[in-house]
Amino acid sequence: MKVGFLQTSPLFGKKDENVLNAIQIIKQMDADLVVLPELFNTGYQFTSKDEALALAETVPDGQTTRALIRLSQEKHLYIVAGLAEREKGCCYNSAVLVGPGGLIGCYRKLHLFYHEKRWFEPGNLGLSVYDIGQARVGIMICFDWFFPEVARYLALKGADIICHPANLVLPYCPQAMITRCIENRVFAVTANRTGVEKRSEETLTFIGTSQIVGTKGEVFCRASSDRDEAIVIECDPKNARDKQITPQNHLFNDRRLQFAVSVEPSNDHDHQKSLIKDH
Ligand code: ACM
Repeated sequence: MKVGFLQTSPLFGKKDENVLNAIQIIKQMDADLVVLPELFNTGYQFTSKDEALALAETVPDGQTTRALIRLSQEKHLYIVAGLAEREKGCCYNSAVLVGPGGLIGCYRKLHLFYHEKRWFEPGNLGLSVYDIGQARVGIMICFDWFFPEVARYLALKGADIICHPANLVLPYCPQAMITRCIENRVFAVTANRTGVEKRSEETLTFIGTSQIVGTKGEVFCRASSDRDEAIVIECDPKNARDKQITPQNHLFNDRRLQFAVSVEPSNDHDHQKSLIKDH
């Protein structure tokens, strides 16, 4: 399967230009699945909820999703793309999965980063895995990487490839995604953006370095930090289905959930110190 990403530098608010630019590049790509950055059509740094609402679109009948569906049909490929979604007066930082048959899924970012909390509602649709024939794909968006349970959940739900539209500003994610892939035996395609936005007192510099990582943490490709790039690699997504680490260790079956269940974080530092001392 040919899997790729497109790293772009969207111009804030210039949806027609941003979408057309992405479409023109994807038309030249030889791929079965292409991942685009988070908010690839609008840009990132909104300054008000009204501005986000004005640029956001409904799914699937908004102009961006419709254009991506037409492109999927023309090129017989699948696309995952981040966009601002509007529904009933609320905005979500979403990603659509489209294919030749139309819209397949829409994911609304669960973990909003920093000022995103001012414009967007946290996702309310949960996490899903979609079978697109050659692979089962899961979607998470940018800062979701910081919460390892997201990638784990997608892997447990059967994802072979995690599609990860991003607008990264912190430097850690590319290295961290290697671990996400190793610990879940999945592929991950992080499609980030480049460029700078300064629409308030704060300047945001996006780190590029989009990448595709394999099930054993192989970095098959990593883009530059400052240029538009389209990269496609060939992989066999079914390699993600073998969760046997050694003949005696299975990634999922060996978990000891009775000792590692979800708990509330402890603020009891004295207790924690005594535990460490007693050890
Ligand atoms: C981010 O979640 N866009 C950092």
